[in-house]
Amino acid sequence: MSEARIAVFGAGYAGLVTGACFAELGHTVAVRDIVPAKISVLNAGDMPIFEPGLEELIERNRERLRFTLDAAEALEGAQFVFICVDTPPTYAGDADLSRVWTVIEELPATSDRMILVMKSTVPVGTGETVRANLDARGMDATGYVSNPEFLAEGTAVRDFLEPDRIVVGAFDESDAEAVEQLHAGVDAPIVRTDVASAEMVKLASNAFLGTRISFINEIANVCELVGADVNDVARGMGLDSRIGTRYLKPGIGFGGSCFPKDISFLKLLAGNSGYHFQLLNSVIEVNELQKRRVIGKLQKHLGSLRGSCIALLGLAFKAHTDDLREAPSIVLASRLLAEGADVRAWDPVADASQVLKGVSVVSSIDEAVAGADAAVIVTEWDELRMLASPETLAAMRRPLIIDGRNLLDPDEVRAAGFAYEGIGRPTSPLDMLPETPERDLPATARDE
Ligand code: UDX
Repeated sequence: MSEARIAVFGAGYAGLVTGACFAELGHTVAVRDIVPAKISVLNAGDMPIFEPGLEELIERNRERLRFTLDAAEALEGAQFVFICVDTPPTYAGDADLSRVWTVIEELPATSDRMILVMKSTVPVGTGETVRANLDARGMDATGYVSNPEFLAEGTAVRDFLEPDRIVVGAFDESDAEAVEQLHAGVDAPIVRTDVASAEMVKLASNAFLGTRISFINEIANVCELVGADVNDVARGMGLDSRIGTRYLKPGIGFGGSCFPKDISFLKLLAGNSGYHFQLLNSVIEVNELQKRRVIGKLQKHLGSLRGSCIALLGLAFKAHTDDLREAPSIVLASRLLAEGADVRAWDPVADASQVLKGVSVVSSIDEAVAGADAAVIVTEWDELRMLASPETLAAMRRPLIIDGRNLLDPDEVRAAGFAYEGIGRPTSPLDMLPETPERDLPATARDE
């Protein structure tokens, strides 16, 4: 297709990346959000989120990209309307579609040709319901296409412009064709499906990736008991082309705005449709328990955590993002506080001061580890690769590193004088913390 006019509703990760990338492909894009602060930041040339490469992309395409609070302005002349609003979980765990419906209700009942494209993650069946709603309003000329996003934070721009595949599910072939042509310039297989199948591709993909992570986390937990090293195991498994190497990194559980929510959506969707999705219950439970295993590792070395000082290093749910949604750090911090520990927390970009209550958020690794009884690597930030330094050793009250991401080399860390625990890596009784002189310990630890 030649250049198209596109309205994008929602200026979050998905909306901004979608809008900027379509502008990069030559289309004219208006991004609309209801939060005035976001729009004014964007219009001032700044970014409301941290996403590598996005700022440059927006800057380069300024002349084809507008940001507005006004729905009517965004919709003027639009041939495509992309819905990129968030669909957070309800208390029941299924999708809250209220923001999606607000956008749909804002669409003018026009007889002009327009295609509504759903990027937001929605339960299977949503497209049917939207179609019926549009028809009831006499909007037969408005097409509907499900075109789920597969953007991982931190690599979202590349994921959009160089995707593994583009999924296009439509009721009408010509709508699918039009959305496919919008992506001219992107080299990727197009998977054309019906609307329900496209909706399911998104949920099933994320649920499968989450299943892989819970699986490798359980393998890691068994490795710890039997003396195997999960990194070698994952490599040995992943080089089997039937398995593949990606999403086999053990850690402290998956977080973020997608995996936990999408897995819960799929579980409930199945349940509400009469099928008990047993496997997903385990995936969720394993993930919850995985976040808490760090506590056991700390107790193994420190005994009771009451009065101890624990440094949480990295707070974002993964590196290269400032996103704290469903971050394991939040669960970990609250468990540590409940155990009576003092918690210091550091992250290079995520602002945790409003999220982690009762925790002292500090602005450097040095501040976090000074006088700490343990340093826990929660997010795999590069800054933490040099953690096991003589300076850290001298600064900590007790030299214990719990590496929740297997970021460090255990031999090097131990040789540097630290006790070390990774995930799914062998330890020996000799790896315990060296005796610490009594006078250096907090009063509560002496009392026990
Ligand atoms: C994910 C999907 O990848 C993307 O396609 C989707 O549309 C949105 O959700 P995102 O949440 O940004 O993207 O992060 P991702 O990189 O996929 O990681 C999700 C979580 O899994 C993180 O907490 C990460 O640390 C964890 N993870 C990932 C592992 O623990 N091990 C792995 O091997 C991979």
